[in-house]
Amino acid sequence: MNNLFLTTPIFYPNDVPHIGHAYTTILADILARYHRLFGGDVFFMTGLDCHGQKIQEAADKRAISPDSHVNEMKDRFCAVWEKLNITYDRFMMTTEPYHKEVVSKCLAALYEKGDIYKASYEGWYCVSEEIFYPEKDLIDGKTPSGKDVVKITESNYFFKMGSYQQQLIDYINANPKFIYPESRRNEVLGFLKQPLEDLCISRPKSRLSWGVDLPFDPDFVTYVWFDALLNYPSGLGYLSEDSTERHRYEKLWGDTIHIIGKDILMTHCVYWPTMLMALEIPLPRRIVAHGWWLNSDGGKMSKSEGKVIRPLDMVDVVGVEPLRYFLARGMRLGLDASFSPDEVIKRVSADLANNLGNLVSRSLSLVAKYCGDTLPEQGSIVSGINLGLDTLITSVKTMIVDDLTLDLALEKVFLFLNDVNKYFNDAKPWSLLKSEETRENGLEVLRTTLVVIDKIAQILSPVMPEKMAELARTIHPNSKSDNAASSNWQVELSVFAAWGQKWAGEVQPLFPKDYEI
Ligand code: MSP
Repeated sequence: MNNLFLTTPIFYPNDVPHIGHAYTTILADILARYHRLFGGDVFFMTGLDCHGQKIQEAADKRAISPDSHVNEMKDRFCAVWEKLNITYDRFMMTTEPYHKEVVSKCLAALYEKGDIYKASYEGWYCVSEEIFYPEKDLIDGKTPSGKDVVKITESNYFFKMGSYQQQLIDYINANPKFIYPESRRNEVLGFLKQPLEDLCISRPKSRLSWGVDLPFDPDFVTYVWFDALLNYPSGLGYLSEDSTERHRYEKLWGDTIHIIGKDILMTHCVYWPTMLMALEIPLPRRIVAHGWWLNSDGGKMSKSEGKVIRPLDMVDVVGVEPLRYFLARGMRLGLDASFSPDEVIKRVSADLANNLGNLVSRSLSLVAKYCGDTLPEQGSIVSGINLGLDTLITSVKTMIVDDLTLDLALEKVFLFLNDVNKYFNDAKPWSLLKSEETRENGLEVLRTTLVVIDKIAQILSPVMPEKMAELARTIHPNSKSDNAASSNWQVELSVFAAWGQKWAGEVQPLFPKDYEI
């Protein structure tokens, strides 16, 4: 199985995490867990984007130093990620001395190469996005996403981004899956039809001192996006003197997938690849841009506008793992989706409590009632269902690894479970088990359902690791493994270790049917 270096954006710590941050991070966590389950070697990184004017202003407001501010925020982000069951391997802070050294070395290399020059600049700056806009890109005096800009005239350093334009267009054309999904790729190619301007990569210290010093001019700090994007290679071990870190970089960099939101498409698909081309670093394998979670009235849930639904609020209502499921299932890659507490509850009740949960409790109640608390002995199972399960397992893997269409894969799993529920209802095992003549047919239904539940627990374990481990323990009463569901991906349907085992459990519902907000 392949290697993977999976990243989330590094978030601005100017406020506590909100549903947008949580979504990107949960999506990346689920993909990382699937790759681990398929036997891949994964390094999963997230972190904070600590420099720049926004952070300086957030710290000033609290009358503390930017350094203390970002360190406090790190604890808050990590606490939320722990609660949401995020299994990152590295938490990156751009204030780390090693990262700053990498930024400095990269700037020095580009300066020496002649790819950075000084010039006077007049333009419009958006503090909220930390981006300069040329006049022609403003719409009614605001940024394309409607944010305020201020006019700035100053001397600055520039990266010759424009001279890499054709190379970038050629690369995107030659690598159709580099920017994903296709709608985003077309957006980037459309943007690149206009001449690409050079990128301002400095800020005079007289205006902003919170950043990485330019190695060739002590009066300037580095533009926050230039510093932030370099977190990806630096966090993995680029230019490290430590041989383990360097080895990790060499092994994994070529298999990088960046997960980002559509609002940071241009910085990742234009600034970043041209920076890498100039630095002669290979480009990431893929950049995957998801849409936004919108309020039910269609507005964006952005922290800057104060309309924040904190992810933890819904955790208290439905629990962490059902929320992970909702987010993974609810957004089609590349499109926007709407988030409301009612929709979360509706989805979770329908799929988890009524569909999966019901199948589990109904089949286990029959084990308790008709099988003397012993799981059926090995015997025949229904092949029609097996056939469907077999196909499901293979296609879920392809949908996730090759296509990254997690929502479609989950939709497929629950459609399959619908069919199994229907099979269970139609077969009426409760009545078959009552008489000796039909008992064997009843046991066949139970066996079939147990095999399905066993495999589904495994298929869904990256989305709901603890709940699925609990489910796996329920149907493997004597299993030594604490986490039967997270063992390696087993495609073999005949593997079910618990036939004939004593089952002493009571049937506890896996997911409640009612939630209160
Ligand atoms: N610091 C930069 C990223 C630098 S990466 C080298 C940044 N940070 S951010 O804190 O603003 O976080 C942005 C991430 O959160 C983006 O991926 C963005 O799409 C995501 N979301 C913010 N609001 C969102 C929604 N309402 N819905 C889904 N995700 C959105 O940009």
